[in-house]
Amino acid sequence: MDAVSTIDLKPIATDKRLAGLWRMMTGYRLTYLAATLGVGLAALAKTGTYLLLGYFVDDVLGQEDYRRVFLVGLGFIGLAAIQGVFTYMGGRLAARTAEGVTLRLRNYLFDHIQRLPFSFHDRSQTGELIQRATSDVDAVRRFFADPVIGVSRIALLFSVNFVALANLNLRLALISTVVMPFVVIMSYLFFKKMSQIYEAYQNQEAVVSTTLQENLTGVRVVKAFARQDHERDKGRRESGEKYRRGRRRVGMHATYWPLSDILTGVQMAVGFGVAGLMTINGTITVGNFLTYVGLVIWLIWPVRNLGRMIVRTSTGLISYDRIAKLVAEDQEPLDEGDYLPDGSLRGEVVFEGVGFEYDDGASVLEDISFRCEAGQAVALLGSTGSGKTSLVNLLPRFYEYTGGSLTLDGVALNRYPRSFLRSQIGIVEQEPFLFSRSMRENISYGVGRDVSDEEVETAARAAAIHETIVSFPDGYDTLVGEKGVTLSGGQKQRVAIARTLLKDPRILILDDSTSSVDTETEGLIRQALRFLMRGRTTFIIAHRIQSVMDADQILVLDKGRIVDHGVHDELMARDGIYRKVYDLQARLEVELEEEMTSA
Ligand code: UTP
Ligand code: MG
Repeated sequence: MDAVSTIDLKPIATDKRLAGLWRMMTGYRLTYLAATLGVGLAALAKTGTYLLLGYFVDDVLGQEDYRRVFLVGLGFIGLAAIQGVFTYMGGRLAARTAEGVTLRLRNYLFDHIQRLPFSFHDRSQTGELIQRATSDVDAVRRFFADPVIGVSRIALLFSVNFVALANLNLRLALISTVVMPFVVIMSYLFFKKMSQIYEAYQNQEAVVSTTLQENLTGVRVVKAFARQDHERDKGRRESGEKYRRGRRRVGMHATYWPLSDILTGVQMAVGFGVAGLMTINGTITVGNFLTYVGLVIWLIWPVRNLGRMIVRTSTGLISYDRIAKLVAEDQEPLDEGDYLPDGSLRGEVVFEGVGFEYDDGASVLEDISFRCEAGQAVALLGSTGSGKTSLVNLLPRFYEYTGGSLTLDGVALNRYPRSFLRSQIGIVEQEPFLFSRSMRENISYGVGRDVSDEEVETAARAAAIHETIVSFPDGYDTLVGEKGVTLSGGQKQRVAIARTLLKDPRILILDDSTSSVDTETEGLIRQALRFLMRGRTTFIIAHRIQSVMDADQILVLDKGRIVDHGVHDELMARDGIYRKVYDLQARLEVELEEEMTSA
């Protein structure tokens, strides 16, 4: 199979529907035209068969001209062959178009969704996105697979058959098409209603996938709170709604088909009756009658099929609209920025009155000012929700600050391309995510170059995870996740630390990276980190005073503001939050120790 060319699908966000669909067919238009022609020719061959049948009965049968009988026989075989070959070709070409167009669409969406900014993903549901990239894309595929061709075929068949009928007898031709306007009106109404019903159905399907996806992701919470029954009821409710909407959809079909059957039935009865009378009183020949019956049945077929085309068209278009809406979301421009330093960053960071809010508009950071020299370690301390993660997320431009000035090596942060910043900044996240790949792949993820096994191992040792990894049967080749080993929270964090170590970033961000490990491991990691932090600007977020007391400066955050700022000794000298936290933690530790020794 030939490779599928890629095209930029972004313009379909603003294109009119038809223009968008046309654009999606780039590179397949000729194939598609050929498919339509093929299918059309096959249909014409069948029309030809009925004409030949009429001729055979009227002009060949009963005359002892065996040469002509033989020729007509050949004609039937030839027409059947044409019909077979062109049906096959048309089908293949249509499938190639439909599959090619949707493969390209699916690839584009996959890429697009990955490039959407954090703020988009914050407000979108995973289940819904999955549905867009699967079920909606599939509806578009079905749309390309036959309705478009089908409609051209119906139009072609209709006009050719009508002309053929009119040639037989104009009055008969008119009688046979008298119900057509009704069928068309009915189909149109059906189309409109079906679109609404399908959209409602599709929306509900998204709700059901989101519910399922959330329950799977949150299965631990559900079980821990013994909420299975509640979740099951919720799932049933949503599935029940999908069932009701699905039934309405099927109900529409159930109404449409008999109605169109009745209409076409009446049509045939009247037509055949009139044609029969005409044959009896000699207006038309028996051959004409046979041709007429064949053509009418052949004409009814596309009319009957109109319903299916309409469903596929309406579902395809609704799904297309949903996809276009997703495509309209702006990607995060990775390479936007007018300043690219010669080498790597030094790492001097200056905040001046920086303010930040998420899309919803509530202020999260206000008037943040501090200066961090290159290579310094800055610790952030503050209660939960005080804005620590939000603050460090500004540095790789995951989110854009909304006020004040933020400079990196003396240049405004938003002048740097995001891709550059992200190559220079390493983050150990609060809840690191590992892929279902091997340990080795997880550690060397995103380094951007080939790394040797030794390097991976050195990083793992420094992050105090090497011993754990070699204790697994497959060592560094052990798979993480569902098909492999399940890691504890602390182990995951250490893999994430190793990953960041290997990346060797100029600016390092550690978000709470030692909170889910025991004290002994914490000591090991702190040692590793000290090594890791050397010569780099580091932002470290931690809840334990021990983890932050060595920092060059400590920022104490509360409700999005810096409420205290200094080194350990200075902060201890003041009677602020820091001292309170210190005293509390020290007392807890003493108590804990006493309890351990007395036990
Ligand atoms: P942070 O996530 O910055 O708090 O959220 P934090 O200091 O790191 O907290 P811990 O210690 O990890 O728990 C700061 C505020 O920003 C809001 C939150 O509601 C919180 O009040 N927020 C956070 C958003 O509005 N949207 C987000 O995507 C994240
Ligand atoms: Mg946080």
